[in-house]
Formats: sequence, structure tokens, C-alpha cells
Amino acid sequence: MPLTPQQLALISASTIGHYESRAEAFRDGTRDHDVSQNIAALLRHIDAPAPLQILDLGCGPGRDLRTFRALGHHPVGLDGSASFVEMARTESQCEAWQQDFLALQLPAERFDGVFANAVLFHIPSEALPRVLSQLHATLKPGGVLFSSNPRGDNQEGWNAERYGAYYDLTHWRELMQAAHFSELEHYYRPAGLPREQQPWLASVWRKANA
Ligand SMILES: C[S@@+](CC[C@H](N)C(=O)[O-])C[C@H]1O[C@@H](n2cnc3c(N)ncnc32)[C@H](O)[C@@H]1O
Repeated sequence: MPLTPQQLALISASTIGHYESRAEAFRDGTRDHDVSQNIAALLRHIDAPAPLQILDLGCGPGRDLRTFRALGHHPVGLDGSASFVEMARTESQCEAWQQDFLALQLPAERFDGVFANAVLFHIPSEALPRVLSQLHATLKPGGVLFSSNPRGDNQEGWNAERYGAYYDLTHWRELMQAAHFSELEHYYRPAGLPREQQPWLASVWRKANA
């Protein structure tokens, strides 16, 4: 059964509300997370000259906006949480847009790269093709999308107030290829551990012609 518009709205409101209600604790708890491996994976595949235009989709409180800016690039944040958008602007001095992933309004062919760190799994599977096509459209020709998600056996549903969808590599590839992205690389995180202790699947994709 497809989700109703009311169910989709509840998924966004409840998931965003979870982060909104603990915004400061989330910022303090994730400020020192080392995602340099993921940032490097995005940047090494972008062929355009610096400074790069980067969309940090689901930017949270702005940790990675700060990093991209410190590297000399021009990142823009996007998040559904008003508190995160405010923190991101203050902490990074970058532009940040408050938008719902399920109602994105993005400029065409604006970005060299999209960085989606720990965010796309919050989108219900039936809405994901539309979101991926919007991300495809906001990338410049040849642009690159980075994604990291907790992996699973293609199940989805509620985890307390948050909604999540958890894919294996085979199904994630099908979804990305259907949205006209071609794979550049993938890896599991954290690095250096046995696979069963690597809950995160990171992957990097180039915009192909639709
Ligand atoms: C796990 S956090 C990741 C934050 C950041 N990218 C990081 O790596 O620390 C997920 C982010 O997605 C945002 N989010 C979840 N559902 C959303 C939705 N429907 N629309 C917009 N943002 C959403 C949350 O507000 C939160 O900032």
C-alpha cells in the first residue's frame, strides 16, 4: 500500500522533530565525528576547478559545512530542522536553507557535488526516486553525489520517532542506477573493522545523462 500524503507528512515532521528536540545535544555529541574519509571521497571525484559549489544535504548543525569552507569551497547547507539551520549558519558562516527532503526546491545544475552524510536513509523508499531525481537535476553535468547510510536488508519503518530505510549494496545500486547515477566507488565504515562491525555503507556516484 502506498503511503498517504498524511503519512509522508508525519514521517518528515516526526523525524525532523526528533532532531529539533535534541539539537544542542546532537551538535555537542557529533561535533568531533571524523568524516574526513567521506569528504575526501566526494572531493576526489569532482573534476571541476575549485572553489566547488557543494550542497550539504541534511547538514545538521554545520560541522561539515565548516570543513568544506575551510578547504576553500562554497558549501550550502540544507536541513529540515530550524535549530540546525540556525546553528549551521552561525557555526559555518555559510548559507543554509530550511527545507523538507520530501518537498525540495533546488536550483537546476547549481552544484558540483552533493554531500548526503547519514541522511538519505530517512527518506521512505517510495519517495526516494523523486528525491534522487531532484538531486540529479541540481548537479551540474558530471557532478558527484556522496551518500552514507546505515545498511540493512532492505527493510524500512519507524525507529521510535524517526523513520528509516536500510538497504544492502545490491538494492542501493539498483536505486541509484535507476536515478541515472553511475557508481564511482563504495566502502563500508568504520574503516579497518570486520564487516559485521561496519554498519555504514558509503558510496559515490557520478551524474549520468538521464
Ligand atoms: C543523522 S542526522 C545527519 C546530520 C549530518 N549530515 C551529520 O552527518 O552529522 C540526519 C539529518 O537529516 C535531517 N532530516 C531528517 N529528515 C529530514 C527531512 N524530511 N527533511 C529535511 N531534513 C531532514 C535531520 O534534521 C538531521 O540533520
